Amino acid sequence: MIKKNCAVFISGRGSNLESLIKEADNDNFPIQIKLIISDNINAIGLKFSKTFNIDSYPIDYSSFKNKKEFEQNLLNKLRNKNIELICLAGFMQILSSEFITSFSGPILNIHPSLLPKYKGLNTHQRALDNNDKVAGCTVHFVSEELDSGEIILQKSLKINENETAETLMNRVLRLEHQAYPEAIKQIFS
Ligand code: GRF
Repeated sequence: MIKKNCAVFISGRGSNLESLIKEADNDNFPIQIKLIISDNINAIGLKFSKTFNIDSYPIDYSSFKNKKEFEQNLLNKLRNKNIELICLAGFMQILSSEFITSFSGPILNIHPSLLPKYKGLNTHQRALDNNDKVAGCTVHFVSEELDSGEIILQKSLKINENETAETLMNRVLRLEHQAYPEAIKQIFS
């Protein structure tokens, strides 16, 4: 199988990155992780670059004149590495519509809620505040509007009594680690 070259964009912990790297080790998984991009040069998840011997590119937004130059630099890097797919996994920058249309392949994102509910941040606390009975995660294509692109796959769980935002986050995160690889298999097979 010819695997598609993927760049994973992170800003922090990188647990979804780790699960994708491990999955991609499998011969019949349709992508290989070629590059880790982080807009936070101190992101914990950058350690996976060393652990798994994958190139990383920590890039500091504040060292560019503006968003356009930052994104142009990113696009050049992606082109040089022949990246065909981007997986956003906790990346905290919002990509401009110019970036999204300039990149030639699909851009995916994982979000910790059952979209269209709870776009943006603090998803777990908002679900609890609304007395929701279920929560979950969504893998979707990235479009110009935040957390609004076409949904590829969702996974859900029942919210427990006495659930806190933290317990819910941990339970949903475990679902995320299954959902992202499944969504990728789904779109490339
Ligand atoms: C995940 O909850 C993901 O859904 C959201 O950001 C978090 C990233 O976690 N977009 P990690 O860095 O993959 O551990």
